[in-house]
Amino acid sequence: EAAGANTTPSFAFNELSSAPTDRAEVAAGYDANVLIRWGDPVLPGAPAFDPRNQTGAAQSRQFGYNNDYLGYIPLPGAANPSRHGLLCVNHEYTNEELMFPGIGVQDARAAQRGGIPFAKMTAELASIEMMAHGGSVLEIRRDGEHWAVVADSRYARRITAETEMEITGPAAGHPRMRTGYDPEGRKVRGMINNCAGGRTPWGTWVTCEENVNGYFSGTLGEDHPEYRNYRRMGIPGRWQNWADYHQRFDVNKEPNEANRFGWVVEIDPFDPNSVPKKRTAIGRFKHEGAAGITARDGQYVIYAGDDERFDYVYKFVTAGKVSGNRAEDMNLLETGTLHVARYNVDGTGDWLPLVHGQGPLTAENGFASQADVVIEARRASDLLGATRMDRPEDVEANPKTDKVYVMLTNNIRRTGDQVNAANPRSDNRFGHIVEMLPEGRDHAALKFTWDILVRCGDPSVAAVGATFNANTTKDGWFGMPDNCAIDSEGRLWVATDGNMPSKTGRNDGIWAMETEGPARGTSKLFFKVPMGAEMCGPEFTPDGETFFVAIQHPGEADDENPRAEPATFENPSTRWPDFKPDMPPRPAIVAITKKGGGKIAV
Ligand code: FEO
Ligand code: CA
Ligand code: CA
Ligand code: CA
Repeated sequence: EAAGANTTPSFAFNELSSAPTDRAEVAAGYDANVLIRWGDPVLPGAPAFDPRNQTGAAQSRQFGYNNDYLGYIPLPGAANPSRHGLLCVNHEYTNEELMFPGIGVQDARAAQRGGIPFAKMTAELASIEMMAHGGSVLEIRRDGEHWAVVADSRYARRITAETEMEITGPAAGHPRMRTGYDPEGRKVRGMINNCAGGRTPWGTWVTCEENVNGYFSGTLGEDHPEYRNYRRMGIPGRWQNWADYHQRFDVNKEPNEANRFGWVVEIDPFDPNSVPKKRTAIGRFKHEGAAGITARDGQYVIYAGDDERFDYVYKFVTAGKVSGNRAEDMNLLETGTLHVARYNVDGTGDWLPLVHGQGPLTAENGFASQADVVIEARRASDLLGATRMDRPEDVEANPKTDKVYVMLTNNIRRTGDQVNAANPRSDNRFGHIVEMLPEGRDHAALKFTWDILVRCGDPSVAAVGATFNANTTKDGWFGMPDNCAIDSEGRLWVATDGNMPSKTGRNDGIWAMETEGPARGTSKLFFKVPMGAEMCGPEFTPDGETFFVAIQHPGEADDENPRAEPATFENPSTRWPDFKPDMPPRPAIVAITKKGGGKIAV
C-alpha cells in the first residue's frame, strides 16, 4: 500500500472517561486482569511476599519493581503462538518511600529534595533494591480467557544488578572499560535502570539502560580521568546510595565502572543460563528503547531515543543481514553503524554516521578509536551537529507503512531562541510526536522526511498550542508521550508518563492515535492507570487479541500539587492492586482482552 493512504481501520471502542481514579480502568467491553505483581514468585522456592520482612535473597527470586518494557515472544511449537509465550520484563528502578516501611520521602529521595539523604538506608535495603532491578523472564499461557504465569517454568529467570554479563563490540576490552573486578574490560555485573526495549526476529530481548547516572556516587573533580564524559551523562547523580555498600558505584574508588553502564543489553530468554551481552556498538547514552525492524536489504535496524533534554534520536544498522538462522543472527548486534538524526528545516532529515575517523570524530577531538566514539556517543553527536530534541523516548517503526514514530516527552528548559523545526515549542511542557519516513521506505537509508504528528497538551487552552485533530474529545488528549506500540492493524497506541490531576486533570494511560487520512491526529482514551502511576510496556500478542501493559509506581504523590501529602509505604495515594490495609501498592502487569474474544479495538 502507498504510504499515507488511508488503509487503517479506525479504533472500535467507546472512549473511557479521563477522570482520575485510584484503580486501573479499561474501556467498556474489555477485561483488564493482573498477571503478576511486585513480590510474586518467579523462581522456584521464592518465598511469599511479606512487605514488612523483605530481604535481598527473597527479592532475587521474586518479581522485581517498576515493570517497564514488556516483550512477548511466542514459544516455538506452541499450539497457538499468541496464547503461549515468554514475557520479558524490564524492572527499571525502585521507589524506596513506597517499598519500605518507615523510610519516607525524606530519606532515599532527599538528595533531590534538599533534605538529609539516606539516613534510614541499610545494606539490606540496598540489596533489596539491587535485586528488584534488572528484568524477569516469565513463561505465560492463556487458558480460555485468562492469562497466567506458568509456575516453576524452565525458562523463568531473574536478572538483577549483580547478574554477570559480557561486554561485546567496539568498547570490549578497551582500557576505559577495565576495573579491579574485570581487568580485561569484558565482563560486568548487572544492568540498571532498564527502561524500554525491543525484541528481535531471532527471538532475543534487547533491554536498555537509561538513567544510569543516578546509581553512582563520589566527587567528579576536573582531574577525574572521565570528567568530561561523566559530566555529559550527569554522573555521579547519587539518587541511590549503593556506593555506601559497594565501592564499584563510587567514581573515585572505581573510576571506570560507570563506563560499563548506559548500553543496550541483548538477552536470550530461551536459555536461563545464557550470559546477557552488552552491545556496545549501539552506543552509550540514556537509552530509552530499542525497537527494531528489518531493512529492505536485510540489515536489522534499531531505533533509539536518548532521554535527556536536548539529546538525540539514534539508529543502529547492523553490518550483517538477518539470515533466519538463529545461531548466526545471535551475533548480528555486535557489529554495525550507529547514526544520529539531524532534522532539517525543510522537512528532510539526515542520519549522520558515528564512525571513528570520519568528520570530527578523530584523535584531535579525543576520539582515538571507535571505542571512544561509542563510550561518548553524546559528545560525538554534539560534534556532528545532530538536532537537540525534547527528551526522545520510545521510537517505533510501523511495519505496514514504514513510518517511524518518535515520542518526545517534554522539555521545560527549551527557551524561545532554542526552538527548531522539529522541536517548535519553548517551555514544551506536554511533548509532541514526530513521524519520519525513510527514503525509499528503506530503514537503512541515510535520508528521511519528517513531520509532526501532534503537539500534545490541552487543546482548549490556546497558549498550549496543542494540535490534536478537532474530533479529539476532552478525554482524548494527553501530555507527555513516552512508550508506544503498533498493533496488528498497523495502528499507533501511545502510553504516557507524567499526566497527573494537578497538571493535566488526568492520570497516565493509553491513547489510541489515528495517523492516516482525515482522522489523523485524533486520539482516544482506552486505558488509565491508578493514582500516582506511570503507563509502560504496551505490547500486543501477534494476533492482536491481548494487550499487555505495565503499571509503574502506583501510589506516588501528585508531586505537582503543593498541598498533596507525601506518599509513603504507610500513606500511598492508592493501594492498587491489592487494596489491603497493610499491603503497599505494587507495580504490576495487566493483560487486556476483549470480552467474548477478538482483536482489540477492531
Ligand atoms: Fe524511563 Fe525515558 O523513561
Ligand atoms: Ca520510558
Ligand atoms: Ca518517561
Ligand atoms: Ca519511569
